Formats: sequence, C-alpha cells, structure tokens
Amino acid sequence: MFPLLRAARQIPGSEAPEAATVPVWFMRQAGRSLPEYREVRGEGTILHVIADTDRATEITLQPVRRYGVDAAILYSDIVTPVWAVGFGIDIVPGVGPMCEHPFESAADLERLRPLEPDIDLPYQAETIKNVVTDGGVPLIGFAGGPFTLASYLVEGRPSRTYTKVKALMFGQPDLWHQLCERISDIAIATLRAQVAAGASMVQLFDSWAGALRPEHYTEFVLPHATRILHEVADLGVPRTHFGINTGELLPLMADAGADVIGVDWRTPLSVARQRTGGRVALQGNLDPALTTGTWDVMQREVRRVLADNGGNPGHIFNLGHGVMPESDPGLLKQVVELVHEEGTC
Ligand code: CP3
Repeated sequence: MFPLLRAARQIPGSEAPEAATVPVWFMRQAGRSLPEYREVRGEGTILHVIADTDRATEITLQPVRRYGVDAAILYSDIVTPVWAVGFGIDIVPGVGPMCEHPFESAADLERLRPLEPDIDLPYQAETIKNVVTDGGVPLIGFAGGPFTLASYLVEGRPSRTYTKVKALMFGQPDLWHQLCERISDIAIATLRAQVAAGASMVQLFDSWAGALRPEHYTEFVLPHATRILHEVADLGVPRTHFGINTGELLPLMADAGADVIGVDWRTPLSVARQRTGGRVALQGNLDPALTTGTWDVMQREVRRVLADNGGNPGHIFNLGHGVMPESDPGLLKQVVELVHEEGTC
C-alpha cells in the first residue's frame, strides 16, 4: 500500500507498516515555480501542452523527482474537459480561464454536450498510463467542482465577487441546476476515464465554493457535488473534496460523501476534524505564502500543522491551496523531508 492511500482510508500506520509515513504532496506542484517546467512549457495556451502527452507526462513527473512527494497529480486543468467538448474557453497566461462568449441562457447548454473521453481527450488516458508506468507513486486524477467551473463559464474570466454567477444561481435557479447537471456529467465522465486509465485517487476541486453561505451551498451546490462523488464511488478509489474559504462548509462538504476533505490554512486541522466528526481524512493545510519565506519559519509552521493533526492516521499533508509562482522549490523539498521524518500516523 502507498502512504497516500493508507492515510486517505484513515488506516493507522501500525496496521500498514510499509506505508507508515505521513504522505505529502502539493496542489499545483507542477508549474511555474519550477525552472524545469518553464523549460518544457513553451509559449501559448497551457491547453495545448496538456494535450501533448510527452510534455504532459514529463511535467507531471517533474515535482515527483524534484520534491520526493507521495503523489503525482495529472498535468491538466479543471477547464480541460469543457474545452474538449468545444464550449469555447481558453487559459490565458497570467490571467486564467477566459471565455469569449460566457454562459448566459438555456441555449448555451448545447455548448456543454456529454464528454466522450476516448474521443474528446484521448491524451488524458495516455498521459496517465505513461505516468503510472514511469512514476513509482500513485497518480491523482481530478475534476472541477460545480460552483468553480460554473463561475468560469458564467463570469467568462476569474472573478473576486462572483456577481454574475450568483445572479444566475439566485435569479434563474432552474437554469443554474441544468448548468450544474451538465458540468457534473462531464466531471463524472472525466473522473471515471482517469481511474480507468490508472489514477489511484481523485480530487474534486470546488476551489471557490467558499464564496457561498452554508444555506446557499446546501441548496445550489451540495446536490451536484454529492452526485459526482456518488457516481464514482463504485470505482473504489479514495475521493477528496476541496475548496478554500470553506471553514463554514466543512461539515456539508463531508456530507457530500468524500473520503478526504481538503482544508485551507484558515481552519486548524483539529477544528476541521471536530466539524467533520472524524468521518473523513483531512488534507492540508500549510499557508502557501510560507513557501516564499525562510526555512526557520517554515519548520515551525510545518511542526504546527503536524502537532495540530496530533498523529491522527487520516492526514495527507499539503498546502492549504496551491504552490505559487514565487514559491521556493528548495523549501518545498525540505518540507517533504521534514514531514516524512517527523510526521506520525
Ligand atoms: O500540479 C498540479 O496541481 C497540476 C495540475 C493543475 C493545473 N490546474 C495546471 C495549471 C490543476 C489541479 C489545476 C486545477 C485548477 N485550475 C484549479 C483548481 C485548483 C486551485 O488552484 O484552486 C483552478 C481554479 C484552475 C483554473 C486556473 N488554471 C487558474 C486560475 C490558472 C492560473 C492562471 C495564471 O496563469 O495565473 C490556471 C492555469 C494553470 N493550470 C497553470 C497550471 C500549471 C499555470 C500556468 C501556465 O503554465 O500557463
């Protein structure tokens, strides 16, 4: 067994001695903080790099080699599947996902036809097979969650306020739910294809769901997140559900049925564990800003997260959100070493 899968299942280290370390990986571990990434990345939209299996395989494996992390995460993006069905979206370097014609009305549902993974994104399965053959670590697949993906499709670009997407959600609830159903169907097809190709675990990135209050999350997002997680349950791989600013939503996100809940840096793991009642493993939750600082401070903060977890076997060490372009790769490597040395499970 791999440490990642042991922790996701909350199995104590004593019951799986070969996997008795605290696993650690970093969201956005592949990317601009690595010079070797910038070398392979080239110019233009990241979507073309994702569709190039040789480069995507290499980029997926770079952080595994550099940091010694316990997992690879597929080099792709949450918008890749909607791009692949032809919605009309691009990822603009330095900005993020952008749509020339954002989602506005029922007619736009046609632009979100069902995903046929073998035809629409065959490169995804090929990259996963390459990584699983070469990598020596489990590979994490992923999809975008309903609110986060809807936010890009409706706003047409990254947003701080989510004004348009909330206007659609509150003002046209039927259309909102139809949109989320399309998004969820695409997420389910994506995740199922990733696991069929060799992914050992999956993560639903509803990164911006924390923009909603609990009652609204319950009404507008939770049924869809629940369906996605439920529809991949039979695959037998652990499922993680993640968002930032979700301190108030943690119990609801756990209700959606994941095995692991991602916790951002604002909520101590001990508090997150109380709120989720111990029924899920936790992933997190170092403040990503620390990765641009000094080892002195970092050491103290890594130990704080480990102490806060208190040796609970269900802990996957990670940042509370992603690696930043300014992150120091040397520090990240030291974090992995320290967690492996001192983490108890
Ligand atoms: O190592 C990994 O985490 C692997 C792959 C990965 C990427 N995007 C590659 C990527 C994953 C898991 C994602 C998910 C993703 N994409 C999320 C959810 C996770 C999170 O961060 O909350 C979101 C919200 C997106 C949307 C997105 N894609 C944004 C906001 C950006 C940044 C735009 C920029 O240039 O500042 C992207 C681009 C992107 N996706 C990059 C990478 C490595 C960076 C840039 C590049 O090389 O062009």
